[in-house]
Amino acid sequence: MLKRWFLSSGIILILVVLALQLLPYGRDHSNPSVRQEPAWDSPQTRELAAWACFDCHSNQTVWPWYSNIAPVSWIIERDVRKGRKKLNFSEWDRPQEEADESAESIQKGKMPPWYYPWAHLSGADREALVRGLGATVGENGGRGEEKERFRD
Ligand code: HEC
Repeated sequence: MLKRWFLSSGIILILVVLALQLLPYGRDHSNPSVRQEPAWDSPQTRELAAWACFDCHSNQTVWPWYSNIAPVSWIIERDVRKGRKKLNFSEWDRPQEEADESAESIQKGKMPPWYYPWAHLSGADREALVRGLGATVGENGGRGEEKERFRD
């Protein structure tokens, strides 16, 4: 009795997961062309940002194999879409209003997101990226604020 129940719920689960794969969302793995990058203060800063931030904040997303599998694909698609909208290191030819929060977002542990642990940086790399992003895109209280004042 119990065995039959396990078997049939297992089959139903498999069918549901298979059916999810048919939904069209999450498969648009586009990488629009790189229009312009910021003037990086050093190649090291770019390298670290590429490692920790580019998957969600550039047009050079490396789409992993599991980005093809629902429902993970939906989460990834949403992250990349929202991430690029907020901050896109490949589209520096348009205003990047929140760029000056980059260094701070790392310091506060907000970025990269906790559920993206493989992008987390070790102490020295983290420091270097915080410093490098501060120098490249400005920081709150530094160039960031000046930019804001300039805009008004
Ligand atoms: C796994 C995807 C992902 C990675 C990796 C990632 N971000 Fe984000 N980031 C997001 C998303 C999604 C948002 C939009 C959050 C929202 O709208 O609530 C965001 C927002 C931001 C913002 C806007 C301010 C804010 O907090 O909303 C900044 C600045 C930022 N990220 C910087 C970075 C930096 C710097 C890195 C690399 C160290 C990084 N992010 C790595 C997904 C990511």
